[in-house]
Amino acid sequence: MTDLSDCFRPGEAWLDDRGVAINAHGPGLLFHEGTYYWFGEHKIEGRAGNSAHVGVHVYSSQDLYSWKDEGIALAVSDDPAHDLVRGCIIERPKVVYNRSTRRFVMWFHHEPKDRGYNGSRSGVAVADTPTGPFRYLGNFRPNAGVWPENTTTEQRRELNAEEQARLAALELPGGPLPYYPKQILFRRDFAGGQMARDMTVFVDDDSTAYHLYSSEANGTLHISQLSDDYERPAGKYVRVFPGGFHEAPALMKWRGRYFLFSSGCTGWAPNAGRLSVADSIWGPWEELGNPCLGPGSLITNTFGAQSAFVLPVAGRNDAFIFIADRWRPENAIDGRYVWLPIQFMNDVPVIAWQDRWSLDFFDQQTFRTKL
Ligand code: GAL
Repeated sequence: MTDLSDCFRPGEAWLDDRGVAINAHGPGLLFHEGTYYWFGEHKIEGRAGNSAHVGVHVYSSQDLYSWKDEGIALAVSDDPAHDLVRGCIIERPKVVYNRSTRRFVMWFHHEPKDRGYNGSRSGVAVADTPTGPFRYLGNFRPNAGVWPENTTTEQRRELNAEEQARLAALELPGGPLPYYPKQILFRRDFAGGQMARDMTVFVDDDSTAYHLYSSEANGTLHISQLSDDYERPAGKYVRVFPGGFHEAPALMKWRGRYFLFSSGCTGWAPNAGRLSVADSIWGPWEELGNPCLGPGSLITNTFGAQSAFVLPVAGRNDAFIFIADRWRPENAIDGRYVWLPIQFMNDVPVIAWQDRWSLDFFDQQTFRTKL
């Protein structure tokens, strides 16, 4: 067995404290009272593993290298009438801690069983301890009845019947299209709530939390403030990059600026990573390009992976880990994790491949290169 107790080996099998491969894909991490918690999708073998048959798995660690299996934080249900019935979709779970309620709040992308990805819903569950079990509160499409902040008065109009019918005739498979109607879908979904697929949750320095999700058939990102208890949308959101087709959002804040990692929309297949920056979370957002450095194929497909999370390393300045998934849709359980240190060049985060690295990397001064 590979000894992984003192280093990261991106893309290689990563075993837990019992010698079993860590099963927590599309991960979100939480640092709480000296311990890291890693939450992710528990996958099973084969193609069936692309939907939820077990639930959200959680592991804990003190050092980020060795992980203890803490079991299933949110379990699927055997009741066919339950939203989270075995075989539904639960993706990209993210857990945040709310200091006022002292509850751990989990958000995830939810799709009802056997209905593809058109549900585009957000699920919420809460727990009193980080490892759960989490109590499922429900799912919904966010921001029903709320207009995005950054829309004009003319755009704040629901679609009429004819516009609805024209839109219903369009195929919107979730990737870029020449006829993508980039100023229409949020109006269609005004009453019922906005579509929400790939997602993350980010807690800012002032404790305000935000839900970022691919909306409008993946064509537009939404950044949506959460309520003070983090359990609902607060009713304030913006649309970012309409028609840009970003997914896999992962947000970090560094020296007062927000950096958003994302990908294009090619399903489980990797594509070139993307990085965007803003001085305010509400924008304006600017696209900076591909943050990956290195030769050819490595950087054009984000090292074969897709962004899931950025982890600030506790107790270290300027230390962030880019966390991504190498999906294996034909045998989902064999998906791999790619953890790489974020470096800064000209005050912009970049990522370079490392076969093997450890947290000492962040002690090197050279990683803060100025070109
Ligand atoms: C990916 C997405 C995954 C999953 C998959 C399904 O693009 O990032 O979380 O939804 O598509 O095809």
